[in-house]
Amino acid sequence: MERFKHIISARQFDDPALLDHLFSEADEMQRLDAARNLPDLLHGRILATLFYEPSTRTRFSFEAAMQKLGGGVLTAENMRDSSSATKGETIADTIRIVSGYADAIAIRHYEQGTAAEAARISPVPVINAGDGIGEHPTQALTDVYTIQKELGRINGLRVALVGDLLNGRTIHSLLPLLTLYKDVIVDLISPWQLRLPLKHREYLMDKGVRFHEGDKIEGAIELADVAYITRVQRERFALPEEYEAVKDAYIINAQVADTLQPHAIIMHALPRVNEIAPEVDSNARAAYFKQAKNGLYMRMALLKHLLG
Ligand code: NCD
Repeated sequence: MERFKHIISARQFDDPALLDHLFSEADEMQRLDAARNLPDLLHGRILATLFYEPSTRTRFSFEAAMQKLGGGVLTAENMRDSSSATKGETIADTIRIVSGYADAIAIRHYEQGTAAEAARISPVPVINAGDGIGEHPTQALTDVYTIQKELGRINGLRVALVGDLLNGRTIHSLLPLLTLYKDVIVDLISPWQLRLPLKHREYLMDKGVRFHEGDKIEGAIELADVAYITRVQRERFALPEEYEAVKDAYIINAQVADTLQPHAIIMHALPRVNEIAPEVDSNARAAYFKQAKNGLYMRMALLKHLLG
């Protein structure tokens, strides 16, 4: 099985056998964690988390994953304002320095392509923890792991992706992973202003994946096995009024949730704003908090893959 030096794009993961391997590693991490029997696999190793954009789940789950496996972390949650970036230091120089202190670097940046740029320079593994509107591969791996766990398969599923498909990097990473499975149908539901970029639609076409586009959830969400809701990415809009016009385009409340098939699951990478009402949390279809927890075990599996 191919081992990666860096994790930059979900498109690297083009082997379903590797995903199966990561799923069983993540299951094993969960089992060992519950038994309080995790190995000190990464003892003496250090992960630096360089975050130039806000985060709760991604940074904390990476740090928890590292520490649960016996490693340590160097953490910067506000690199944009707290690091030498404010003095004008380039990413390249920052990476050169940090890679001398850490055994791996997880980076989140507001500009697309920054993780790839860091990987070109870094002698230690670089993990893309979100690069602008580009990708968020470790979230997407968490997402397919969650689907597999909740529904027992990915082949043959109908997946509705709802919300900001233009700017939502989790979707940009999830789609390539979905193309690895047989007979998946994708419903792309967004306001037309927030339509999935052409390059991602072309990728689906190249891979022969059936997909439909529309701007209404009615008529699509009822057919879904997975309804994956996304936040409208306010920070990506040039004008506040453009955001205001689409911010509450879709709201999943209890009534809408009940139009889904009984076995369907509702996912969201979180944070949510208004797009999923809190009353949905108690619906049996709500899978988003489990999804967030799964991120810990998937990241443990990934750190083992890169550093173990
Ligand atoms: C997402 C992100 O940062 O792209 N959050 C996450 O990592 N779980 C989704 C979002 O911010 O909307």
